[in-house]
Amino acid sequence: MNYYKNKRLYIDTLGCQMNVYDSDKIRQSFEECGCEITDSASEADIIILNTCSIREKACQKAFSFLGRVKKLKRNKKVAIGVCGCLAEQEGRKIIERMPYLDFVAGVNAIYRMPEIVKKAAETKYRPVDTGFDNPIEEPLLRSPKSKVDISEFVTIMRGCDNFCSYCVVPYVRGREISRKPESIINEIKMLVANGASEITLLGQNVNSYGKKNGTITFAKLIELVNEIEGLKRIRFTTSHPKDLGDDLIEAFKKFDKLCPHIHLPVQSGSDAVLKRMNRQYKIKDYIEKIEKLRKSVSNISITSDFIVGFCQETEEDFNMTLDLIKNIEFDGIFAFVYSPRPNAASRKFKDMTSEKEKKERLYRLLKLQEYYTKKKNKDIVGTIQKTLAEGLSKRGLFKNEKKEWTGRTDTNKIVNFITSKDYEPIGKIVNVKIEKAFSHSLWGIL
Ligand code: 5AD
Ligand code: SF4
Repeated sequence: MNYYKNKRLYIDTLGCQMNVYDSDKIRQSFEECGCEITDSASEADIIILNTCSIREKACQKAFSFLGRVKKLKRNKKVAIGVCGCLAEQEGRKIIERMPYLDFVAGVNAIYRMPEIVKKAAETKYRPVDTGFDNPIEEPLLRSPKSKVDISEFVTIMRGCDNFCSYCVVPYVRGREISRKPESIINEIKMLVANGASEITLLGQNVNSYGKKNGTITFAKLIELVNEIEGLKRIRFTTSHPKDLGDDLIEAFKKFDKLCPHIHLPVQSGSDAVLKRMNRQYKIKDYIEKIEKLRKSVSNISITSDFIVGFCQETEEDFNMTLDLIKNIEFDGIFAFVYSPRPNAASRKFKDMTSEKEKKERLYRLLKLQEYYTKKKNKDIVGTIQKTLAEGLSKRGLFKNEKKEWTGRTDTNKIVNFITSKDYEPIGKIVNVKIEKAFSHSLWGIL
């Protein structure tokens, strides 16, 4: 008898978009085995947590989730396990710490998960499938996932060879590997045929796509994706500044579906810190690339990531980061206090800055950026923005005669906008006149 008949899977996801994509694939592989999907952990027979280990906080979140679901084992037989980056990092140690777990699947095991869960149920032994002996191959898809969204992710490369000194990714995701162009294009065509309007190409280091395997370049891949009929928008994330070449800068001008937005993590404004981070560029190079991007596409929106309080970061280094924020005027940023990671080279670096000081720096940096985020939003009040409508806003029906929708501009800003009650914009790119700007969103009228 089919083991998965009448079984229900619950999967929760922590971390980045790559994990969101992987969880979708895991869901799909269980569905193909006849398993049902539930969004209630207490109703499930199988519970999987897809984990992240980029910072200590993400690891703590995973342990606290697993602590909470333990009690579900009291009333019925339920298999609980982990996959993803923390699973890869900790391996069997997670089971030693939480002996009620039934299986651990590393990042290369995502397509084997139905097998792993079945093995856990049929034997006494708790499978731990980690390591990089079997490099991951994206299988050719037999069918689209059951619910295709307006905006979908497609992973085009996995892993990272850069070894930034603070980063756990090269250890938990392994060496960089790019998917074959045909397989990516087929997947996107299938998503578009089933209702997707926007595709975000994903990779830890997305703009080095194809460099190592000698297939086509990332700019060429964008050209091929741009030709897909019915697709309206292309985005990509995350790019490394050192791999941002002129061909990609030109791509923003050449390919009409490529949205004018780039997420280009800089991490710090100090060359000394960047060197210790092993980032392989200087601030001068970064600024030059931003200038080129803005010259090529005047309205391009630029977002970035920052790590605050990296080992031996002085007040002077930190002030250089603040100067960079003033100089570039980013549309938005993500910023994090440095979190030492197992295996990462910086683990051995001296770190003199107190936690209190690091938190204060983070606060100052975010406060400064808040001004620029608002300024950038205010700058587009009064303009008309092409907006891809993704769904009804939280408010939905507006004063009983209008409807309020939510979507994003091509520059990736969230817009809530109203239309007459009978208009259905979902999946369409519509013209929205921006009337109001807030810190994290815009508001307008169709
Ligand atoms: N500590 C804090 N932030 C980190 N990031 C990566 N590793 C660490 C770490 N050890 C941040 C970087 C990266 C983003 C995804 O997470 O800014 O761009
Ligand atoms: Fe980590 Fe650096 Fe690779 Fe990004 S480029 S995943 S920060 S090692």
